[in-house]
Amino acid sequence: MSLHLGDTAPDFTAMTTDGEISFHEWKKDSWAVFFSHPADFTPVCTTELGRTAALESEFAQRNTKAIALSVDPIEDHHGWAPDIGEVSGTALNFPIIADPDRTVAELYDMIHPGEGDTSTVRSVFIVDPSNAIRLSLTYPKSVGRNFDEIVRVIDALQATDAASIATPADWVPGDRVIVSPAMSTEDALATFDNVEEIKPYLRWADAPSS
Ligand code: BEZ
Repeated sequence: MSLHLGDTAPDFTAMTTDGEISFHEWKKDSWAVFFSHPADFTPVCTTELGRTAALESEFAQRNTKAIALSVDPIEDHHGWAPDIGEVSGTALNFPIIADPDRTVAELYDMIHPGEGDTSTVRSVFIVDPSNAIRLSLTYPKSVGRNFDEIVRVIDALQATDAASIATPADWVPGDRVIVSPAMSTEDALATFDNVEEIKPYLRWADAPSS
């Protein structure tokens, strides 16, 4: 199934390390980072899940929950989880979905035949409080993800939802923002501080305080 930005993230019920979860019911009105990894007891995945565990308070500050998936069975997840805490220094604090029949992986198109076997690649979906998919990323199995970037994107999505702005290349919170092309410069001057028109289509402004 091909999923696009703006689509409703498909609901599912699956066994996880925190027991059976129905995705929408578990997520409620928070944001979610739903990501897949290829297999348990593998090195890159161990670092990725440890990094996610260490970001718990960053996600909580952003009303965001993390949930992972691999096609390995629940017994393997339970066997592997202590390694994540041992290696990263932070115990697993979010659910890992067991998907041995690949139902959820296929629903989210997380298996890419060109990537070697029938395990999941490194997919990331950021889902908003209304269950809309707001970002998707796909990394190959050999490349671990940058979780600072995932947090940065959540910040950018939440900032652009709150005001008529867009964020420029490499934006991080505190940087100046771009006035939405849909807003006139006259309205921008009345709305934002320190508006600067570089081109009629490129107007900078201070980020509105939240
Ligand atoms: C890993 O997580 O280390 C890994 C998994 C599958 C292929 C390559 C690396």
